Amino acid sequence: MSSAIQMPERATPSAEDAQRSVVTVSPYSPSTSLHDRFHAPTSLRNPLVLHPSQNENLRILVLENISMEAVKAFTKQGFLVDHHKKAMSEDELVKIIPTYNAIGIRSKTKITERVIRAARKLLVIGCFCIGTNQVDLNTAASVGIPVFNSPFSNSRSVAELVIGEVIALSRQLIDRAVELRVSAIWNKVSKGCWEIRGKTLGIVGYGHIGSQLSVLSEAFGMRVIFFDVLNIMPLGSARQVDTLDALLAEADFVTLHVPEIKETINMISHAQLAKMKQGSYLINNARGRVVDIPALVDALQSGHLAGAAIDVFPAEPGANGAHFDDSLNTWASDLRACNNVILTPHIGGSTEEAQRMIGEEVSTALTRYLLAGTTLGAVNFPEVDLRAIPPDQKESVRVCHVHKNQPGVLRQVNDVLSPYNVEKQFSDSKGEIAYLMADIANVSAGDVNKLKELIDGTSANILSRLLIG
Ligand SMILES: NC(=O)c1ccc[n+]([C@@H]2O[C@H](COP(=O)([O-])OP(=O)(O)OC[C@H]3O[C@@H](n4cnc5c(N)ncnc54)[C@H](O)[C@@H]3O)[C@@H](O)[C@H]2O)c1
Repeated sequence: MSSAIQMPERATPSAEDAQRSVVTVSPYSPSTSLHDRFHAPTSLRNPLVLHPSQNENLRILVLENISMEAVKAFTKQGFLVDHHKKAMSEDELVKIIPTYNAIGIRSKTKITERVIRAARKLLVIGCFCIGTNQVDLNTAASVGIPVFNSPFSNSRSVAELVIGEVIALSRQLIDRAVELRVSAIWNKVSKGCWEIRGKTLGIVGYGHIGSQLSVLSEAFGMRVIFFDVLNIMPLGSARQVDTLDALLAEADFVTLHVPEIKETINMISHAQLAKMKQGSYLINNARGRVVDIPALVDALQSGHLAGAAIDVFPAEPGANGAHFDDSLNTWASDLRACNNVILTPHIGGSTEEAQRMIGEEVSTALTRYLLAGTTLGAVNFPEVDLRAIPPDQKESVRVCHVHKNQPGVLRQVNDVLSPYNVEKQFSDSKGEIAYLMADIANVSAGDVNKLKELIDGTSANILSRLLIG
């Protein structure tokens, strides 16, 4: 078959070309309804399986004892996986990384600029954890490497812990247990101990965790109110209140589920604690700096608050076994001395289930990027997806083109694609990086390499891949 590709001669696309390059919205993109997806043709539920035009055997380096489920998922896709239990130093990584196409890490492995520059074949980074501070996200994006993480896989674990804390605070459970276990003191009291039924839970931040908690607490017969900067549809019988002050004045338990941003640092300090009801409780499983802890200590010592549960702290030890003392946070011993205070070492999201979910979510994101080009959920990259290619649409090529976000790029790319029927195309940008995906039909095997060469040759190209059916 003769090649359909010619070097483009036109500077501007014809009206016909322009029509072809109109963005088509995928039924699998976030903008379509569940109904649309459910009623998609059956063929799209068994899409054409794509594979990279180069790099048939993609190699993945998996560090830090990431779950075996993730390793199995990669192996099932035909990837070659090297699985290590420990983290690697920068020097070790620089030596080993040039042969890998993907890497999976947790929080201990640092992916620095030096590591990224050495990673000549690296296509994607998976953080099998919540945070991504350990990766130089800007450098990764600048060389066309998306980074994925799993920010919400432990929401349920946190919500369940809060339920436990609400009951434990209400019954002074930890104080009674410590008295009996540590000091052998029998102290059977009912004064100041309450059922949680009929009490009001005030949730600050009604996102993934806050909304989950809303449902669980209603099942215990609690009334739920919440405050959020966004207007959010309440779940169950929950009610949104207009201000934080209104929530503080009404709630028996105040629980914080906001991100740590400029506006939320010390959002609970002296003034806010004073607005809380006499004998109420504060729970913080969000981020350490959201609560002004010396102010909380005052409110507990004065008896204005009846208790608190704190899982996160402004300064946290870097390793297990380290001392949580005044050298770390000057107020640590004062807080530890307060009655009915539950202190936990940032374990809100630490469950086996959350680890498994993280493994599933991040391995799926990496696989979808490597084999389908999808960047939905990437933290440093424009999020782009295309609907699946029907299985009967043979000789299809999916173009995945990471480029600099500058004028004229689409015209150049569309000139390259113009000899073909562009089935669908979608492009988005984030900062200086843009990402275009396009599905084109009837591309002969002989054309694939030439097509790649032409796209690589466009002036703003950062990294291009072709996935073939
Ligand atoms: N303790 C743990 O182990 C643990 C585990 C997971 C998450 N977290 C923390 O929990 C917090 C919530 O996580 P999430 O997954 O529910 O986040 P999310 O992004 O889903 O929800 C946060 C909500 O807070 C709202 N919000 C933002 N600023 C606000 C403000 N000033 N006032 C009121 N509402 C505001 C947002 O609109 C959003 O609805 C985060 O800080 C996260 O880091 C802690």
